[in-house]
Amino acid sequence: MEQAVLSKKIIDGKQVAKDVREELKVQVEAATAKYGRKPGLAVVLIGDNPASHTYVKNKVTACKNVGIESFLLQYDKDVDEKTVVEIVQKLNQDPLVDGILVQLPLPKHLPTQEILALIDPAKDVDGLTAINLGRLARGDEGLFPCTPLGIMRLLSAYKVPVKGKNVVVLGRSHLVGKPVALMLLAQDATVTICHSKTANLPEVCRQADVLVAACGQPEMVKGDWVKPGAVVIDVGTTRVENADGTSSLKGDVAFDAAFENASLITPVPGGVGPMTIAMLLVNTQKSFEMRMQSRA
Ligand SMILES: NC(=O)c1ccc[n+]([C@@H]2O[C@H](COP(=O)([O-])OP(=O)(O)OC[C@H]3O[C@@H](n4cnc5c(N)ncnc54)[C@H](OP(=O)(O)O)[C@@H]3O)[C@@H](O)[C@H]2O)c1
Repeated sequence: MEQAVLSKKIIDGKQVAKDVREELKVQVEAATAKYGRKPGLAVVLIGDNPASHTYVKNKVTACKNVGIESFLLQYDKDVDEKTVVEIVQKLNQDPLVDGILVQLPLPKHLPTQEILALIDPAKDVDGLTAINLGRLARGDEGLFPCTPLGIMRLLSAYKVPVKGKNVVVLGRSHLVGKPVALMLLAQDATVTICHSKTANLPEVCRQADVLVAACGQPEMVKGDWVKPGAVVIDVGTTRVENADGTSSLKGDVAFDAAFENASLITPVPGGVGPMTIAMLLVNTQKSFEMRMQSRA
């Protein structure tokens, strides 16, 4: 296939994320001038997971590039629960902190849900507290999870209509599957949510005008699961070992075969991934604005 045809079918997450960051930079500059300080994001990093360190480094750099102040709080993997609770409570009270991000996964001895639940919903830039997920379910305003927001932004950037369309979401996590399904529902899509117990998965997927795969199963979605002309959003990112000892990142969709049927498709990497950090920055600016306005 010719390069021009190829690239026409590929959803370029890197480019859309760049556009989002450029737009945001202007908004951050204006808000910084208006309120007399920069938006602030606190990132809590516990332990020595190399992937977490890389993600956090990327988030800190991304903040800097759009004019958001970041505060990195790093702790040893053995830090006790009481200390982590106190850290989050202190950040909740800190007037210079607009967003709090606790990098996951946490070491096993720390109760993830209990710790996330402590975050002030007004500073919950990952959108993972019950309050914000409840607001999303109700259709109210709030801070919502970054990857689903990124998926919605990709669909709108590529003018993919979802109203009245059959959308199939593979996966029902709080992080991706459920929130993206709620966002699509709010835009009048007819949404089917699938999971590990779904019967006739290939059949269900073949009904999709838009297929969102977020199940963490490398290349599970085969080419013939994709209806001709469907839009495919591949959220999956699993690192797999290659025969030659190297490793590569695999999506949940068998890209080459799905590409043949899809009208638009996200690559892995370079599709949904870059959008997640971009939307974290958007959420931080949003929480800054909301907090400043609520004081005015
Ligand atoms: N690019 C990004 O920025 C980004 C961000 C977040 C996540 N991700 C990636 O997205 C993927 C999903 O993440 P997650 O946090 O949502 O994962 P998760 O919490 O493990 O949830 C996976 C979901 O997929 C379902 N599932 C698993 N195996 C299945 C199968 N064989 N058939 C049908 N459904 C199946 C599970 O069903 P049950 O509920 O029945 O167990 C579950 O609902 C992962 O690869 C993750 O790395 C990427």
